[in-house]
Amino acid sequence: MKNIIAPSILSADFAHLAADIEMLNESECGWIHLDIMDGVFVPNLSFGLPVVEHISRLATKPLDAHLMIVNPDNYLARFAQAGVSLLTVHYEACTHLERTVSAIHDLGMKAGVAINPHTNVCLLEDILGEIDLALIMSVNPGFGGQKFIPQSVEKVRKLKKMITDSGSKCLIEIDGGVNKDNVALLRKAGVDAFVAGSSVFGSDDPSETISFMANA
Ligand code: DX5
Ligand code: ZN
Repeated sequence: MKNIIAPSILSADFAHLAADIEMLNESECGWIHLDIMDGVFVPNLSFGLPVVEHISRLATKPLDAHLMIVNPDNYLARFAQAGVSLLTVHYEACTHLERTVSAIHDLGMKAGVAINPHTNVCLLEDILGEIDLALIMSVNPGFGGQKFIPQSVEKVRKLKKMITDSGSKCLIEIDGGVNKDNVALLRKAGVDAFVAGSSVFGSDDPSETISFMANA
């Protein structure tokens, strides 16, 4: 089974976004990762729904939207209408997480929950049976091109055991500082989906980098 590689558009060339999406369509990537930032939950602004709608018209791969925003409940339906397949909210941004996960499912999308580097995986225990994806942040959210936080590997192992023991079907996605050098170690630890921004779009041959990581 190939690794699911989810290139992050945050590191793409926004002056030639259509060409980058075309490259991803032809590549071995599994998903396209969309980092939505509001400047409140994280100290950065990225892009919003008009860009997502344009990407959705061009992309032939599922859109994996990562909401680094406060009050995500206010936008769930608009991301569904924009064509997102998998919508991930932050544990730290949701007061009534179970209600948010149910609302994402009611809109026909798969539901993911992301946790920041300081958030313990144990906090996912009571929602693990309801979500399709658990996203472990291996950098502090807000920017591409940051250094991988090494403790994230142990977090993956712990979460994988929780998923196995509980019989949950939840996938594990890792996000931040993922590259050719750590992808095999992360797969061994239990990761299913790998977000990669700068290591893909900053490489000489993004499509080859994706293939390498998909088969690592
Ligand atoms: C950071 C984002 C990540 C980031 C990954 O807040 O959630 O998806 O874009 O970029 P790299 O792979 O360069 O760390
Ligand atoms: Zn992300």
